[in-house]
Amino acid sequence: MTLDIIFPMHAIEILGLEKTYQVGFWRKRRKQALRPLHLTVELGQIFGFLGPNGAGKTTTLKMLMGLVYPTSGSARILGMALDDTRMKAQIGFLPEQPYFYDYLTARELLRYYGQLSGIAAKQLNSRVEMILEQVGLRDAATVQLRKFSKGMLQRVGIAQAILHDPKVVFLDEPMSGLDPMGRFEVRRLIEDLKSQGKTVFFSTHILSDAEALCDGVAVLHLGELRGVAVISELTENVQGKVEIVWQGSSIPEAIPALGGDCRCVGQTVRAVVREEKQDQVLDILRRDHLRLVSVVPVRMSLEDYFVARLGKNDLGEPSKAPPKLNSFSMAGGNRNS
Ligand SMILES: Nc1ncnc2c1ncn2[C@@H]1O[C@H](COP(=O)(O)OP(=O)(O)OP(=O)(O)O)[C@@H](O)[C@H]1O
Ligand SMILES: [Mg+2]
Repeated sequence: MTLDIIFPMHAIEILGLEKTYQVGFWRKRRKQALRPLHLTVELGQIFGFLGPNGAGKTTTLKMLMGLVYPTSGSARILGMALDDTRMKAQIGFLPEQPYFYDYLTARELLRYYGQLSGIAAKQLNSRVEMILEQVGLRDAATVQLRKFSKGMLQRVGIAQAILHDPKVVFLDEPMSGLDPMGRFEVRRLIEDLKSQGKTVFFSTHILSDAEALCDGVAVLHLGELRGVAVISELTENVQGKVEIVWQGSSIPEAIPALGGDCRCVGQTVRAVVREEKQDQVLDILRRDHLRLVSVVPVRMSLEDYFVARLGKNDLGEPSKAPPKLNSFSMAGGNRNS
């Protein structure tokens, strides 16, 4: 047993995982769902796996879970290989479209899963009650699942994923189809898991959730890794521009002449200018007796990053050079390429 297995350096290391499906009636056509993927996720992080439909997110998760075989490459979870049963006991998984038997209650279902995952009979009841409480389903514990809302079913799915107290939790689209309250509750659950020291790796389309929750994200498109970013580095990136907002609808001519990108929104004007032009713009506003509302550095959002990584080509807009890959590195100096 190596030291890395006892004290793993990383939660997840994906080492060139690749998947090509054989498709068509005779299974003769090849469909490359995932090009060789290299990615590292640190222990204790919440990591978002982002990408549009068909990007290869579920395929990657299924390979990590051992549900489909990689065409090539390998991965390690908690320093252990994908077929290592010791590792499987320490991971939890919420599939993209979980199916639960409709006529079981939440409590019955969790007891069943608890037995399957080998929780000792003595601890099973207290563990199930604790998890029902944690996912906010204690009052609905005796209700059959066919009467549950989508949000409640998603929480049952998360409950089964964390019942056996895994160290790394994989969630495929945990917020999909949920209303804002349901999304809030799932976000809170994911934050709880992080505060318990667990690593959470989840796929999503919902960029605002990823921005609010994640330490790091990877953007995947058409089976290819388009970039990896540390969220705090992204949003602290001030880009050398400021947004200056003033009241009214008047735009002094000198401001666009300084390169200011001006937009009138309701009863305010917003101008984005380079930082070094800020004082000149403020002088112009003072000269014209315009009332200043705010001066704020422009920060990058996850949406800006995501759109830039996909490239305008992929958004159906005019062609441009593809984005430069992997210009971000994860904390601790790991580069994901
Ligand atoms: N079993 C399969 N056989 C053949 N092709 C498949 C299979 N599973 C997935 N694919 C194809 O692989 C590509 C990646 O699919 P995948 O489900 O991994 O994407 P995804 O990122 O999870 O998408 P979504 O956001 O819609 O869930 C898609 O083009 C899909 O059609
Ligand atoms: Mg999917």
